[in-house]
Amino acid sequence: MADSKVKDMGLAEFGRKELTLAEHEMPGLMAARKEFGPSQPFKGLNINGSLHMTIQTGVLIETLAALGAKVRWCSCNIFSTQDHAAAGIAKAGTATVFAWKGETLPEYWWCTEQMMTVPGADGCDQLVDDGGDATLLIHKGKEYEEKFAKDGSLPDPASTTNAEFKCILQLLKDSIQADKTKYSRMAAKCKGVSEETTTGVHRLREMAAKGELLFPAINVNDCVTKSKFDNVYGCRHSLPDSIMRATDVMIGGKRALVAGYGDVGKGCAFAMRGAGARVLITEIDPICALQACMEGFQVVTLEEVVGEVDIFTSATGNFKIITLEHMKKMKNNAIVCNIGHFDNEIAMEDLEKSPGIKVENIKPQVDRFVFPDGHGVIVLASGRLVNLGCATGHPSFVMSCSFTNQVLAQLDILENCTKAKKYKNDVYLLPKKLDEKVAALHLPALGASMTKLSKEQADYIGVPVEGPFKPDTYRS
Ligand code: NAI
Repeated sequence: MADSKVKDMGLAEFGRKELTLAEHEMPGLMAARKEFGPSQPFKGLNINGSLHMTIQTGVLIETLAALGAKVRWCSCNIFSTQDHAAAGIAKAGTATVFAWKGETLPEYWWCTEQMMTVPGADGCDQLVDDGGDATLLIHKGKEYEEKFAKDGSLPDPASTTNAEFKCILQLLKDSIQADKTKYSRMAAKCKGVSEETTTGVHRLREMAAKGELLFPAINVNDCVTKSKFDNVYGCRHSLPDSIMRATDVMIGGKRALVAGYGDVGKGCAFAMRGAGARVLITEIDPICALQACMEGFQVVTLEEVVGEVDIFTSATGNFKIITLEHMKKMKNNAIVCNIGHFDNEIAMEDLEKSPGIKVENIKPQVDRFVFPDGHGVIVLASGRLVNLGCATGHPSFVMSCSFTNQVLAQLDILENCTKAKKYKNDVYLLPKKLDEKVAALHLPALGASMTKLSKEQADYIGVPVEGPFKPDTYRS
């Protein structure tokens, strides 16, 4: 598309080859194209997305387009774009793309705003979000526009020391000066959002609880075929991939600590153990801690072991997990990375400002921070999502599960929010039946043979022959 902004359109052919290969590994998305493509359910709708602009996301974008949508896209992380994927999609014209690997923070928020700004319309009809930044921008934009209308005050970038929030305030200040109701119109136009990840769902639930959510939201993360697959098996694949690509360090024999033993942490812990590391876990939730113990992992506090660990991975979705004090006490060349959604799991700002600290850039997304006493820590992807910053994220097959749920969520928003107003401004889950359908679509590719429930057996356990087979409360 003419107004796309990507790093190098010359990479489009390479991107197209990988998009074609990925289609073969994404049976759920290809089945969605086959089932829903002919009826063009999204015809005439603008569906915009903020989600890592990778090859796998490219196949999602082209599925939304195949169902009739006009699509605009940006990445939800400054390092996660695969430039050949962005070029492949932009060149084909299936979406207008604003994304490149290594955006600065102002560029990142510029891309987000461009993605949301639909020429000739107030905004998108439906939104796909990952981590909630696009949703946040609409909400903050409307809030500041209303404040401006009330007392004439503009957002003040100098009012915060947080670099990210400074960019948002600057962007909104410029926006209000140019157009006083842009984000309010955008909020009114957007009929719903489907959210990809744990952290984004957490933000949505907070907004819904305070009565601040401006449109309904579908929690894609908590589909079983998303969080129990992408978060677990995706990270099991992409965490060691990223550590190896970044450092080439031998994982076998090392002590690896994973902070957080939720879905992502479980995948990370198993991957590190699989590579031969001795794995330690930190947890705050006794249930997850007990699960870790039962799997044979040692549950510790960071303080107890900080000087003995070789590789630290934060996977909590919480903040201030690995602090400057921890990093000061680490072994020389300990590797520090984060696989949770935001970089605030590691105290990067404190590290960068630490007196006497020196930074050696080894290669893009690999930095050695050297303390005045001469010992250094190797920080990957500047504390941002390591698997997308230092590698290529999760493989296509597992993302097919996640993104088939995204397509089903967008169809749900279409039926229940765009065509009819059945949903309140709250956070909704997709029905279990659809979760089972997503799983079923991926089984043939793995050669699985399913046992068919007889009517008699179905009656005995009290479920329909064709499912759903478990109650909504069942945690797989
Ligand atoms: P989760 O809620 O299942 O797991 C997080 C775990 O961290 C919980 O068990 C919690 O008790 C624990 N935790 C919280 N604070 C802690 C602390 N101070 N110390 C130790 N443990 C603590 O969430 P999930 O799904 O595992 O996601 C974690 C993060 O990863 C989120 O930010 C999510 O958005 C992100 N994510 C990243 C992916 C990637 O590809 N990099 C993929 C999927 C999710």
